[in-house]
Amino acid sequence: MEMNKRDGAAKIPGTNERETELQLKYIEDCASLIRQKYPSGMTYFIQNEGCQMNNLQTETVAGMIRDMGCTPADSEENADVVIFNTCTVRENANQKIYGRLGRLKSVKRSHPDMKIVLFGCMMQEEHVVKKIRQSYRFVDLVFGTHNMHKFPELFLHSLHSDSQIIDIWTDSDQIIEGLPVDRKYSFKTGVNIMFGCNNFCSYCIVPYVRGREKSREPQAILREIEDLAAHGVTEVMLLGQNVNSYGKTLETPVTFASLLREVEKIDGIKRIRFMTSHPKDLSDELIDVMSHSTKICHHLHLPMQSGSSRILKLMNRHYDKEKYLNLVSKIRTAVPDISLTTDIIVGFPSETEEDFRETLEVVEKSNFDTAFTFIYSKRTGTPAARMEDQVPEDVVKERFGRLLNLVQEKGRENSSRFTGTVQEVLVEEENREQGLLTGRTEYNLLVHFPGDKSLIGSYVKVRMDECKGFYYFGSIPEEN
Ligand code: SAH
Ligand code: SF4
Ligand code: F3S
Repeated sequence: MEMNKRDGAAKIPGTNERETELQLKYIEDCASLIRQKYPSGMTYFIQNEGCQMNNLQTETVAGMIRDMGCTPADSEENADVVIFNTCTVRENANQKIYGRLGRLKSVKRSHPDMKIVLFGCMMQEEHVVKKIRQSYRFVDLVFGTHNMHKFPELFLHSLHSDSQIIDIWTDSDQIIEGLPVDRKYSFKTGVNIMFGCNNFCSYCIVPYVRGREKSREPQAILREIEDLAAHGVTEVMLLGQNVNSYGKTLETPVTFASLLREVEKIDGIKRIRFMTSHPKDLSDELIDVMSHSTKICHHLHLPMQSGSSRILKLMNRHYDKEKYLNLVSKIRTAVPDISLTTDIIVGFPSETEEDFRETLEVVEKSNFDTAFTFIYSKRTGTPAARMEDQVPEDVVKERFGRLLNLVQEKGRENSSRFTGTVQEVLVEEENREQGLLTGRTEYNLLVHFPGDKSLIGSYVKVRMDECKGFYYFGSIPEEN
């Protein structure tokens, strides 16, 4: 989908329009060089790891390479350019990338012109870059999270050179608007409303690799969403590591709730979602806006991380078990049909059986529709990595298994409340099983149902026939 290019509209404070201009020029330069060097066309394979904010940056780099005239390859082995946007939130994300690079090494031996590009969060870590410099010489281009917009410029250099190019910035106070984006769906998309994080939860690497919190100007966000709506997008997901602190660092501070009120006014937008809400900053104003809105989906992702107040304090989360449970009940009172989801970490340093049972207790009481559970992963440079009392692996695994059983049982129980009801779903795609479509309810629940693929992108009423735990089988009622 071609959209979201700069249209010469009024300048937005805090953005660097000259840089956008420059990179768009580099895209053209890359395009003409590629036409010369690859007369039969250049193909690319791009893959994302990590969160939805990372995914949006992957789509931006994909938009830039598409505008250079490149076309997607069917597999990474057959591509002329392989690009990985990396994540480092847990160690297994890193291991995955090293594994893939290991496999690509032999592919590149038989395809020496292949370009391998790495960017994103993992590249912001010194030890990673050192390893790539020493042991992965066949990687052509490396950049980070703060200079992602410079991809066209860096790629042009790389096309002219056989040596490894590494460009990592430690931080940036700029926001670059107006770059091309290649979005997966034409009818729904994420929209970054802020970058970085200032919270420094003691286990988390994100503030170190993403830098300080920066909010986009509301005009830039609203203009982008208006443009998206004009091109057929009906569902937007507003993205930030902590959307509840949106706007606090702007020259003229605004609240997230007031941004939502403005987004609500945009014609053509039917559904508004947002991620992620930090419980410490979830305001009454936001709950109020949610309860009165006709567009904000009744789904809230509210990561609890742990049910133990002692552990929450060590995690630097700034709320305790009671505050979390109070929030849950306040939200359920204001928005009774809300679907709540959460993230939980098991095995944070010094977590005792007693602490863990408190996590189980909060899960028991909160009636989450889904809980994403993670084994604590030690991240170099974070305060938790230096804490004594790391919990032994076998203990963590045993707790993780118990938690998983409980969240699955509760998830199934809570999700089954829709059985027999008719829900409006946004039809997203064809399902692998022939003839079935997949749609999503406002509660973020997936339903597979028979229907024609011409329905993709539209809103359809579907009866939720059979709950399969985290998804449903459904059907379009006769009278629809
Ligand atoms: N900004 C969001 C979370 C972003 S990271 C928030 O504050 O809620 C997504 C999830 O990864 C977190 O909610 C947390 O549960 C998990 N996570 C982050 N760091 C982790 C670590 N070191 N080990 C295990 N899980 C971690
Ligand atoms: Fe990490 Fe905490 Fe920031 Fe979320 S709020 S990204 S968990 S530091
Ligand atoms: Fe991973 Fe970076 Fe997101 S570390 S979770 S991709 S902000």
